[in-house]
Amino acid sequence: MSLYLDHLATLQRQAEAALERTGFDALLIASGIEKYAFLDDRPYLFQPNPHFKHWLPLTNHPHSWLAVRPGRKPRVVYFQPDDYWHVPPSAPSGEWVDAVELVIVREPEAAAKALADCVTARTAVIGEGDAALPGLVPNNPEPLLNLLHWARGVKTPYELEQMRAAQRRAVPAHLAARKAFLAGASEAEIHRAYLVASGHTDRDLPYSNIIGLNEHAAVLHYQYQDDSPPPESRSFLIDAGAQVNGYASDITRTWVAPGHDEFAALVAAMEAEQLGLVDEVREGVDYRDIHLSAHRRTARVLRNAGIVKMSEAAMVEEGVTKPFFPHGIGHLLGLQVHDVGGFMASQDGGVADKPEGHRYLRLTRPLQAGMVVTIEPGLYFIPMLLRELRASPHAAQVDWHAVERLSRYGGIRIEDDVACRAAGEAPENLTRDAFAAA
Ligand code: GLY
Ligand code: MN
Ligand code: MN
Repeated sequence: MSLYLDHLATLQRQAEAALERTGFDALLIASGIEKYAFLDDRPYLFQPNPHFKHWLPLTNHPHSWLAVRPGRKPRVVYFQPDDYWHVPPSAPSGEWVDAVELVIVREPEAAAKALADCVTARTAVIGEGDAALPGLVPNNPEPLLNLLHWARGVKTPYELEQMRAAQRRAVPAHLAARKAFLAGASEAEIHRAYLVASGHTDRDLPYSNIIGLNEHAAVLHYQYQDDSPPPESRSFLIDAGAQVNGYASDITRTWVAPGHDEFAALVAAMEAEQLGLVDEVREGVDYRDIHLSAHRRTARVLRNAGIVKMSEAAMVEEGVTKPFFPHGIGHLLGLQVHDVGGFMASQDGGVADKPEGHRYLRLTRPLQAGMVVTIEPGLYFIPMLLRELRASPHAAQVDWHAVERLSRYGGIRIEDDVACRAAGEAPENLTRDAFAAA
């Protein structure tokens, strides 16, 4: 059986079990609708319902629907309007076509009729409120969503293949961006080099590229791109991904221009720790422990570099690593860059708490084989957080001259996408595999 058909069979099995457990007869999923700017006739970039693209490699298909019922082929209501202003979705093609019962509609409202025989008093309808049609109003039942979100944490072999492909698409673009940085390009030029090499346009990116030179690398989600280069390009942080069939990659690299040895040594120290953290991605490990391990490792880097003169244990205990590493170690990745379900206590819901004082961690579940997570430690020189440290009782333990020297580089983040494998097996580093192959 093909990977895709096997994936579809897995989703069908999971959906049937979820319907039975929650007392529903059918699951209807709206792909979503285009949204318009206020008082304007321009649509925002369409964002499909992730539940829809979980089943089908259709990412630019507003007003389409999927119906899942026990023991039946899924039905796809495929919206293909007659439209000479825009390119309508092309004729259905691909492996999915034969695996479903296909109904083509030309008007959004026609979907209601095409799905009427699926609707009972106990129908789950997943979608945003604005996708509603007469008799088809999204109710998004939480117990059912919980089951589906929990299951989505573990990828099928088909999904892993899409995610490997999303790495192969992003990595050559990362290398092109690095080359542009070393040639003295501006942030905007680096961004364009990335797009050219990935074959994406801005519309296709799984999230807006983060392209920061020098001090801009200290802004975690730096959202601009200067169109002229700085007088000197010392360091370059790029956080950028790609998409394949709706699956994302999410990769960060920090590059250093020649001759900046102190910062280059710090990047090398962080990279060694990052690889150590990747190796902690093992079945059964509590992801919160990897986050806490990242703080211990950050303390080691800060101490070895002479930036903070406290014992590693005291540094972590007193929260001195936090201003330097003020985000979580990573998150689930898949159909969404920050994939759903990261805080669930079980398939029936509930919340697995973050470690106290670590509010930005986005994943608190034990790792299972087949999960894909990011491992993205960082070490930054963020003026706002350093001001607080400077006003704290620990200020005297910090080498502020070193901080000042290193602040000119902004910071470091190194992010790989990592698949957890079965117990006892080393993780699969999707990102490094793609860099090695490039
Ligand atoms: N690119 C966003 C993140 O790394 O979480
Ligand atoms: Mn990222
Ligand atoms: Mn990430």
